[in-house]
Amino acid sequence: MKKIFKHIKELIQVRPEGVRYIAGEAMAELPTIKDAFLIVESGRIVDFGPMQDCPTLEGTEVVDATGQMILPAWCDSHTHIVYAGNREGEFVDRIKGMSYAEIAEKGGGILNSAAKLQALDEDTLYEQSRVRLEEVMQLGTGAVEIKSGYGLTPEAELKMLRVIKRLQSDYTIPIKATFLAAHAIPKKYKENKAEFIRLMLEEVLPQVAEQGLAEYIDVFCEKGYFSVEDTIEVMEAGARYGLKPKIHVNQFTAIGGVAAGVAHKALSVDHLEVLLQEDIEALKGTETMPVALPSCSYFLSIPYTPARELIAAGLPVALATDYNPGSTPSGNMNFVVSTACIKMKMTPEEAINAATINGAYAMGLEQEVGSITKGKRANLILTKPINSYGVLPYSFGNPQIDRVYINGVEL
Ligand code: NIG
Ligand code: FE
Repeated sequence: MKKIFKHIKELIQVRPEGVRYIAGEAMAELPTIKDAFLIVESGRIVDFGPMQDCPTLEGTEVVDATGQMILPAWCDSHTHIVYAGNREGEFVDRIKGMSYAEIAEKGGGILNSAAKLQALDEDTLYEQSRVRLEEVMQLGTGAVEIKSGYGLTPEAELKMLRVIKRLQSDYTIPIKATFLAAHAIPKKYKENKAEFIRLMLEEVLPQVAEQGLAEYIDVFCEKGYFSVEDTIEVMEAGARYGLKPKIHVNQFTAIGGVAAGVAHKALSVDHLEVLLQEDIEALKGTETMPVALPSCSYFLSIPYTPARELIAAGLPVALATDYNPGSTPSGNMNFVVSTACIKMKMTPEEAINAATINGAYAMGLEQEVGSITKGKRANLILTKPINSYGVLPYSFGNPQIDRVYINGVEL
């Protein structure tokens, strides 16, 4: 079944085949076609171009997009969408002056979410997660990565990963699964972190690999959580089972996790709110994508990832939500793109590149989604009538999406 979008005011992020990601100065360019058409067949983009070249097709569904723009759906390469319950109590504690670290020390934070998740049955966990996934799809997300890491016991980690697998088969957007093997140290292992890591790597990881429950492995490399040595141990174990690293690093402190990630061929290093020159040097000339999570910076009032420094160094930047119950209870990529412009001084072109093609790369989906390219999935955002694409980040918090299409089908 074919569908043709006609009179598109501007078709945004038009790329030839084979573009993997956009880095440095090139991020300032966002190729578009004004007054365009786009043809979708069997869920894929098959043709597009200026309206004067639009073919006449008999018996094809026509969508008149006069005044409206089309761009690839957002690619959110870092989320924790599968979780149990919320932590709005801690939110109030923080409003009243407690820090994120103080809350975690009192057994709140990740351990609080883990207790809730361990107590929740698999079907209810699926139900809660499904609602969040549908919500972000309505907000224009057309591909997403989801992590485990709120289980912290073998049973609960596997439960999370099975829920992700169920979402993969029930929903039509690409979903990538990551085994977040080392997210926090459970109370029981406080004095014996090595034993917890051993449990995750020797007992859970083989099952994750055997049951095909994840493609990537993750670890929270941070003071008070997991050291660079622990991070290396997790990445090496993952590699033995064919899981590529995508890691949490430099959220609160820079302790060398970026260089370790790069050395272990991490697909992405995420957070980077605290970034040293040596971290930037380590990223140069590598295939590792730096991922910024501005909604997390916003919610926790911590520094924003210095995107300008990364771009000036010739590096790419991807943007993702980090949707999770503790540091980012929001999965809105539109807000992420706006915040990247407002707080990180990214231009609309840079932010849109970061939230589409670069996000796709950061989850190994750059051949499937992230640009208007022949052969890619027709996962698309049709905007409301807008003056220019700059209105998307400019009108922060105001929805500018008219419709979302997944595999060419309206949501
Ligand atoms: O990516 N930093 C580590 N993990 C999550 C937040 C965890 C939580 O507070 O629940 C993050 O921000
Ligand atoms: Fe995260």
